[in-house]
Amino acid sequence: MSIATKTRVAILVSGRGSNMVSLIEAAGAPDFPAEIALVLANRPEAGGLARAAAAGIPARAIDHTAYPDRATFDAALDAELRAAGIELVCLAGFMRILSTGFVEAWAGRMLNIHPSLLPLFKGTHTHARALEAGVRLHGCTVHYVVPELDAGPIVAQAAVPVLAGDDPDSLAARVIVQEHRLYPAALALVAGGRARLEGGRVVFEAGTAPADGALLSL
Ligand code: GAR
Repeated sequence: MSIATKTRVAILVSGRGSNMVSLIEAAGAPDFPAEIALVLANRPEAGGLARAAAAGIPARAIDHTAYPDRATFDAALDAELRAAGIELVCLAGFMRILSTGFVEAWAGRMLNIHPSLLPLFKGTHTHARALEAGVRLHGCTVHYVVPELDAGPIVAQAAVPVLAGDDPDSLAARVIVQEHRLYPAALALVAGGRARLEGGRVVFEAGTAPADGALLSL
């Protein structure tokens, strides 16, 4: 596949950007169907910005505190994405709620990774809440973004066991290893056209096996 046919992807981060790094590394493979063309952070101090720049990816902060409200911040974000010719957005630890208008403008073209097996444990503190609930399996989910938080159609999930003696940190450490496998696999399915939205659900091209990326477990 030539460079020209690769999907232009932007990654949005708020923090250290370890999922961003896994996407950048995967996209370095010649046959990966997406190229990471831009990284944006809503916090100037986000560690992900330096890591993206070190990988040679254009990386910019759009400081949300400099904007009077959510709509003007989202408009600035949208303008940057369009100026860069972005076709698909990957949220990777982007901890700011996006307005309905922005989400609808990027409907079907925006993915998120969430650290739980959705629809369980939407929102924050997912690992502590999984432990509190006593589930035996936990994990992560890549899904299309819809206006309702963490509620969009699911592309791919990876499961990990919850072990005796786990605390939120040990469980998070087990989940993040799977996040780093799952997000590149899910992005490859979507950017390569093997997974797509149909009637509010994700459907896979005939012949695509779960092991191609939609389901990972230990
Ligand atoms: C990841 O665990 C990601 O799933 C989570 O934040 C972490 C970011 O880490 N995202 C959310 O909780 C979104 N609601 P990273 O910056 O190292 O990729």
